[in-house]
Amino acid sequence: MTNDPRLGDGSALGLLTDAALVVEGGWVAWVGPRHQAPAADASASVGGRALVPGFVDSHAHLVFAGDRSREFEARMTGTPYDGGGIATTVAATRAAPDEVLLARLRALVAEMRAQGTTTVEVKSGYGLDTAHEARSLRIAREVTDETTFLGAHVVPAGVDRRDYLDLVTGEMLAACAPHARWVDVFCEPGSPHAFDGDESREVLTAGAAVGLGVRVHGNQATAGPGVRLAVELGAASVDHCTHLTAADVDALAGSPTVATLLPGVEFSTRSPYPDAAALLRAGVTVALASDCNPGNCFGSSMPFVIALAVRETGMSPAEALWAATAGGARALRRTDVGHLGVGARADLTVVDAPTHRHLAYRPGVPLARALDLGSAEGSP
Ligand code: NIG
Ligand code: FE
Repeated sequence: MTNDPRLGDGSALGLLTDAALVVEGGWVAWVGPRHQAPAADASASVGGRALVPGFVDSHAHLVFAGDRSREFEARMTGTPYDGGGIATTVAATRAAPDEVLLARLRALVAEMRAQGTTTVEVKSGYGLDTAHEARSLRIAREVTDETTFLGAHVVPAGVDRRDYLDLVTGEMLAACAPHARWVDVFCEPGSPHAFDGDESREVLTAGAAVGLGVRVHGNQATAGPGVRLAVELGAASVDHCTHLTAADVDALAGSPTVATLLPGVEFSTRSPYPDAAALLRAGVTVALASDCNPGNCFGSSMPFVIALAVRETGMSPAEALWAATAGGARALRRTDVGHLGVGARADLTVVDAPTHRHLAYRPGVPLARALDLGSAEGSP
């Protein structure tokens, strides 16, 4: 499966059977029917298994310390999620040495790779003061170029909202921007911890003014202003999109902003799932991501997310796999990942099954893993 519609069966997935792929210096140099493949210096066979682009996980919170399994346990017996537990992770993260945070981060990235993910975005947001937010991003940069400044995750306990917004858009942004590609905000007006539409606009426009790309946590708990704000500001992606009005869907459909669904959150908070089928019918570009974080979704498996999206949000196996690869790449405005056409990074994931459909058909079975070919020139 190449995600190059010019190849193979002509579908969006660009499915080829009995295919070969030539890699040069970490990049795809040729792909097509095996009997037409040019001679290569060395070759390896995946022996009848499916080869897919590595998953592009465009939303994760991986720089943290501490454990919130008790919060999960309480949620399963009826305590609702409202973001209040973030303060627990902030305290543990601030207290942890750099080496501990980096070791945890590397372990999570390795766990993701072992399940087929080859590109991951990593957010700050558990530091919530200038030094700790900048430190989180410096650490994140050790593993990915896709780093996101999320100082506006929540207002820290005991800090005045207005003062905190001034800090996030002033000194903290100045310290963090050199280590970040993106700015993000937790836009959820009903939550006592998160930010309303005007506050979110302030954070995002300040980030954009210093050259950061815009992404938004929006419409997770209610049909709030997140989606409309993301579209208005030309955000690359608005993430969660669980509660949408018809106007939200129309706004997304007429825009380049990707709707990134995070069904692992609904699974781990026992909440109603987003309606991917309605978004796809309207022509919205949909991505799937893990939202791996210690609070409301401590899952790192993109195959599990694909299985959930198929079972619970109305996506077909093909749509879900596209959303977890090419969709994630669009959400990060990347053209070098998420497909296996000529010129893509050779980020190859092998599925230990005869077809890509098995990812959704066999939930929880560890079928996918990223292949190690050595990294592409210029890759992180
Ligand atoms: O993407 N919505 C806010 N932030 C995360 C959860 C963070 C946490 O609970 O630690 C999210 O859902
Ligand atoms: Fe998130």
